[in-house]
Amino acid sequence: MMVTLAKLVIGIITVLSVNSTNGYKPIQESNKLTALYTSIDTVKDTKATAFQILENKCNVCHQKRDKRRVFTLENMNTWANDINKQVFIKKRMPKGKKIKLTSKEYQDLLTWISSTQNNQNGNKI
Ligand code: HEC
Repeated sequence: MMVTLAKLVIGIITVLSVNSTNGYKPIQESNKLTALYTSIDTVKDTKATAFQILENKCNVCHQKRDKRRVFTLENMNTWANDINKQVFIKKRMPKGKKIKLTSKEYQDLLTWISSTQNNQNGNKI
């Protein structure tokens, strides 16, 4: 009788301790998810900021002079490498003398371009 009772107590303790370690997991998972959502939000903000620049400093001209390259939120990521090449490597864009990018705009574009290469987990977005 005592042995059975002891087994029962050990059983309950085991179940409780297993449950309590399991109970901790969802908290860890939800922290991971929060971090993931935060990084997705940051990427979205980065992209929205870059889009405003493309819209104000690039599309204004492309709409008239290079209609095949009017940047949108949907297509801009597929243009990221070309934009990097024209703006940062060859420095051909923005074309002409009238439209200039501020240093913050250069920085914001670069931040977006790098975000299209990798997210925090090293995956393409
Ligand atoms: C005042 C006009 C004008 C502005 C402003 C301008 N572009 Fe252009 N862009 C052009 C024209 C015209 C072409 C096509 C002919 C050429 O390549 O020169 C072009 C072509 C391009 C190309 C393709 C070039 C190639 O050979 O592959 C890219 C990429 C590009 N622009 C990016 C941008 C970006 C990014 C901005 C803004 C930061 C920008 N452009 C601002 C006129 C402009």
